[in-house]
Amino acid sequence: MRRKVMAGNWKMNMLPNEAIKFIGDLTPLVKDSKPEVIICAPFTDLFYTLLSCQDTNIHVGAQNMHWKESGAYTGEISAEMLKVINVEYVIIGHSERRQYFNETDETVNLKVKSALKNGLKPIVCVGETLEQKEAGKTIEVITSQTAKALEGLTIEDLNNTIIAYEPIWAIGTGKTATSEDANESIKEIRKEVLNKFGTDDITILYGGSVKKENAKELFTTSDIDGGLVGGASLDADTFSKIVNYDL
Ligand code: PGA
Repeated sequence: MRRKVMAGNWKMNMLPNEAIKFIGDLTPLVKDSKPEVIICAPFTDLFYTLLSCQDTNIHVGAQNMHWKESGAYTGEISAEMLKVINVEYVIIGHSERRQYFNETDETVNLKVKSALKNGLKPIVCVGETLEQKEAGKTIEVITSQTAKALEGLTIEDLNNTIIAYEPIWAIGTGKTATSEDANESIKEIRKEVLNKFGTDDITILYGGSVKKENAKELFTTSDIDGGLVGGASLDADTFSKIVNYDL
């Protein structure tokens, strides 16, 4: 279902005391915000973050999970483990996981299916590298990643799924895609979803050097439904200005 969403991705940052302070600071700043606000915290912060977000309008997500239900997978966390402590969202297939931890379109699809089966809402990341962009392959890459990530899903699953388009060359580099380019890419992703599912009613975010200065331009385009925000989500005041881009 299409709606406005602003998700913070803390990556490998924030100790529990910092997470608790951040949520305390953010709560009054976003209490009347129109977009849905999500914070994706490291595993060790989840419990503290969930407690701090009780009785607020801030939703909580994890940044990764394993696709198996349980078993001998040392160091891994299952969808059920997240669900039982009340985590609602989970980022799947972030480009840093694809790049540094060998995640593939196949494992991304397995994780998306396991998340949905266990009642979690996946935030699925797709995006092209600089080489792919320069070779004119952006659309081919992102539509193929989208099709593979969503393979086997039902329309009901789609309602509980968010896609994040994050051009890899824009992540953490300070280089943002122009709002026109980001919007065009997201239109193509939407078209791919329409081809495969007969509906394009799905929330699609942009990520990659979102800042308070470029939020309004990005989020008032026709097809970008919100943002997945890394660096700028580590400061409550800055993140709230992105969430409240239209105020
Ligand atoms: P960035 O990260 O906002 O720091 O570029 C975005 C992301 O990786 O989700």
